[in-house]
Amino acid sequence: MAGQEIKNNSMEEIQLDEDGRRPLTITVTQPLQQPTVTYANAAPSQSNKPLLDKYTSIVDQQRLSWTTYHHLTKLLGSGGQGKVYLSQRKGADGFTLPIAIKIFSPERFADESSYALTMKRHARVAMQIAQIQHDNLLDVQDFVDRKRIRMLVMEWIDGLDLRILLNNQQLAKLEDRVSSSRWKHINHVIITDGPKQPQFHPGCAVAIVRECLSALEALHRNGIVHGDIKPGNIMIKRTGAAKIIDIGSAFAVDEPPEQRTCTPAYAAPEVLKGEKATPLSDLASLGYVLIELISGRNPFAGKKTYNEMIQAKIDLPQQLEGFIPTGIGNTALLTNFCRRLIATDPAERFHDAYEAHLKQEGAADYHRQLVLESEDNEYEHEIGQWIEETMDAHNEA
Ligand SMILES: Nc1ncnc2c1ncn2[C@@H]1O[C@H](COP(=O)(O)OP(=O)(O)OP(=O)(O)O)[C@@H](O)[C@H]1O
Ligand SMILES: [Mg+2]
Repeated sequence: MAGQEIKNNSMEEIQLDEDGRRPLTITVTQPLQQPTVTYANAAPSQSNKPLLDKYTSIVDQQRLSWTTYHHLTKLLGSGGQGKVYLSQRKGADGFTLPIAIKIFSPERFADESSYALTMKRHARVAMQIAQIQHDNLLDVQDFVDRKRIRMLVMEWIDGLDLRILLNNQQLAKLEDRVSSSRWKHINHVIITDGPKQPQFHPGCAVAIVRECLSALEALHRNGIVHGDIKPGNIMIKRTGAAKIIDIGSAFAVDEPPEQRTCTPAYAAPEVLKGEKATPLSDLASLGYVLIELISGRNPFAGKKTYNEMIQAKIDLPQQLEGFIPTGIGNTALLTNFCRRLIATDPAERFHDAYEAHLKQEGAADYHRQLVLESEDNEYEHEIGQWIEETMDAHNEA
């Protein structure tokens, strides 16, 4: 910095401008630690003293409390556990921050004490997840109680969940919006009409699954099972990044809940049979999601009873060929990858999310194969652009 002169080690520095004219004052909070400096035209004034005293007392007290106001601006979704709202947290000087709040409904509980007990467990798990800070995992901000109703405060994810993205009308709306050459590109690289619902390009689906595996790896390493991996609980942001959301069924491996929750079509067979859910059950659920993404149909559609569903899950590994699109990438590798995610016996699955992602015959191997065949793409970028377009079409409706 031209003309800078450090007077001493104290809180004040004097700086002359390049022509040696009037000194500017610089506020230095931490001398000699490359602080951020503020340039002003006036020297500190005594009239600022009361405010400075307030600042000092706040800093010295080492504790803060304030009241926040939230406006629930839009219903983002509702499901088995309650309602999720987009909300605006209001701060000072007109600052507002979009956040999401999940309000847990007491509907499915017999009485208040069982609600409170489950909420206590949610709070503990939410606290653990908040510390993980993984890019592909929901950011948890707070867990609060208003009138004994519990709420999870979390980041608002500016994107769409896979359940919405797997909707035929959604894709039709996009076709109406984009040019024919862009539509051709989207169909070739990302998503196209499938037998029952839109069908992802395998490379694109595996890119999403890799990010989910990365989040699951972090969760599992911290001793937490997600417990409800399904399209509605995976969001894709405008950046193209995937985020696992909805921690309402998550639990610590060493503290499994008495009352279990799951979504039968995506639950591992052992979970449907009432056995323990483990990290490997999350892998099976993610496997079912992948199969649905690449085949354009839910492999368990039409199964009405638990027994039918369990049997279909036991049969699926032998019927995979009918679900894997041929002619794109290494079909055998992809089939084997799916099989090792959904094997009926958890011991025959990948040992963990890391192995499924990065070890031999895992998701990364499949992508490497696409690179060798020049069939790979900058998936996150491609997905991001497609999500932007899809969200515009979605919001227009
Ligand atoms: N943090 C968030 N940011 C943006 N949208 C969100 C967020 N959390 C949830 N949503 C939206 O709300 C929907 C419902 O949320 P969530 O899955 O947490 O509720 P739920 O009651 O558990 O639903 P379900 O029983 O169907 O799983 C999600 O599918 C997603 O579309
Ligand atoms: Mg959900």
